Amino acid sequence: MYLAIVFQFLLYFGIIALTAYWLFSLRDNIEKYFQNKVVWITGASSGIGRELAKQLARISPSTCLVLSARREEELHKLANELQLDSDHCLVLPLDLELQQDCFKSKFDLVIERFGRIDVLINNAGISQRSLIRDTLYNVDSRLMNINFLGTVTLSKTVLQHFIELQKGHFVVVTSAAGYIGTALRSSYAASKHALHGFFNSLRLEHACDNIDVTIVCPGYVRTEISQHAFEGSGLLHGKMDPKTDKGTDPSKCAYDILRGVANREHEIYVGYLGSVVIYLQRFVPRLFYRILLRSKTD
Ligand SMILES: NC(=O)c1ccc[n+]([C@@H]2O[C@H](COP(=O)([O-])OP(=O)(O)OC[C@H]3O[C@@H](n4cnc5c(N)ncnc54)[C@H](OP(=O)(O)O)[C@@H]3O)[C@@H](O)[C@H]2O)c1
Repeated sequence: MYLAIVFQFLLYFGIIALTAYWLFSLRDNIEKYFQNKVVWITGASSGIGRELAKQLARISPSTCLVLSARREEELHKLANELQLDSDHCLVLPLDLELQQDCFKSKFDLVIERFGRIDVLINNAGISQRSLIRDTLYNVDSRLMNINFLGTVTLSKTVLQHFIELQKGHFVVVTSAAGYIGTALRSSYAASKHALHGFFNSLRLEHACDNIDVTIVCPGYVRTEISQHAFEGSGLLHGKMDPKTDKGTDPSKCAYDILRGVANREHEIYVGYLGSVVIYLQRFVPRLFYRILLRSKTD
């Protein structure tokens, strides 16, 4: 009897100690990987990008952060909240739609401040809430321009630098919609599918230059993505969707992304329903098609 109690105690203690060790080693891994690195995050003014910056500042204080998005005041608020000084943070407003005009000059500003870039996290993006038949050409074009061409052009601006350094890491946040076309998301899904094609090619072409590519495919994450999404006319949707509202906490999502990046994974599935729908599409496509037909999309 006495031995059984001791045995049970040791078993529980062992399980708790192993879990704690596992959790701390994950954190260690993130800290080690990002130590003293220069990380440029797009879409840092809200949602997942903002949480990525917060988690990095907490876990790896030696990391230098470049925070980009259009809303400069939100970026400054974030830098102040995280108490980042100019040795560790550069607020760099950037509009992904203005590719030709400014990307090289933005890149030069980062190099001038920090001397190099180690990781580019292409997170910025905009979603859609409209049927194909109701969507103007201008909206299709803007979605491709921001999500695909903006991301690709910025990455190409950094690519030569990574080749010269003979190292570097591109992270690109796509979506479960990068695998699955769903109703109301036609051009959004197309832009995210396109990113998969581009970055899978980049990974192959530049493996010899020691350049990593991690593609992140979130499911539903509780951010302002639906508020900021385009409707067919080009107006913003302005509403929180129920599924997004029930989505994964963005801080958990950011932590999972950083852990995957630190492990140099090729693909990461994060967020509510993300991995489930991708696996259903891959292994039982006909069944999944029927499920999608019956399900309500918001
Ligand atoms: N939340 C989800 O459920 C979910 C699911 C799958 C994939 N994702 C992807 O995750 C990424 C982050 O989205 P989120 O959920 O965090 O949504 P969010 O809160 O709306 O954040 C989007 C970010 O992108 C920036 N952005 C939008 N248009 C831009 C432009 N033209 N130039 C530069 N930056 C621009 C926004 O900043 P400004 O407005 O200040 O420019 C904002 O910081 C996106 O690529 C999205 O497609 C999200």
